[in-house]
Amino acid sequence: MNKLNDEIIQEGDPNARNAFGLVILKNSHSEIRRLRNQVCTPSIHGNKFWYSSYFIMDYLLSHPLRKGSHVMEIGCGWGLAGIFCAKLFHARVTGIDADPEVFPYLHLHAKINSVSIHTEKKTFQRITATNLSDVDMLIGSDICFWDSMVRPLFNLFKRAMKSGVKQIIIADPGRSPFRELCELCSKEMKTSVLSREVSFPTKNRGSLLIIKPSR
Ligand SMILES: C[S@@+](CC[C@H](N)C(=O)[O-])C[C@H]1O[C@@H](n2cnc3c(N)ncnc32)[C@H](O)[C@@H]1O
Repeated sequence: MNKLNDEIIQEGDPNARNAFGLVILKNSHSEIRRLRNQVCTPSIHGNKFWYSSYFIMDYLLSHPLRKGSHVMEIGCGWGLAGIFCAKLFHARVTGIDADPEVFPYLHLHAKINSVSIHTEKKTFQRITATNLSDVDMLIGSDICFWDSMVRPLFNLFKRAMKSGVKQIIIADPGRSPFRELCELCSKEMKTSVLSREVSFPTKNRGSLLIIKPSR
């Protein structure tokens, strides 16, 4: 740990957890409390780290990325799945979220994990073919929790496939809008839906939607 990080996290800090090679701060950590009380309040559920990111990390350990890939994490929140890609695979990562109030939490985690992430405020609908043109992989964790999110995500995935994105991985605990999204995607794209279970740091179950180009 470098000096800067030593000031934020102490060895064995009960307010931080280690998982998949990352340090992840709990909501009880003083830096998180400081951000929440003095700086920013995320408003579209980006107020904490959601465990579905673990399914993406677990999958990528056995399906590693090519070094230097460009990864776009959509609905990134605190951005841990993207930070994992930057740290383990030296990926260039862009974190996109409709709510800019999540970015200080993302940059704090990038700093304590010694990586750098580019962030942009944008909704799913506003991510254009040009934005996607040099993206290798699109990832998202727990981003399809309202019915109104299904169509914008489906349309974004179609744009991504047309723009040359090589893989899309979306993780979810298994909510019904996510299942509807999987159903819709399977009709028009080369799709697999995988059940996942991770037992560390806590036992959690969920699913991954994986989309690849059809040819
Ligand atoms: C449940 S949180 C998940 C955050 C993060 N992916 C994780 O797993 O910890 C959902 C995130 O999606 C973002 N979001 C919601 N609607 C969005 C939209 N239309 N476009 C882009 N981001 C959106 C929220 O601001 C929030 O950060």
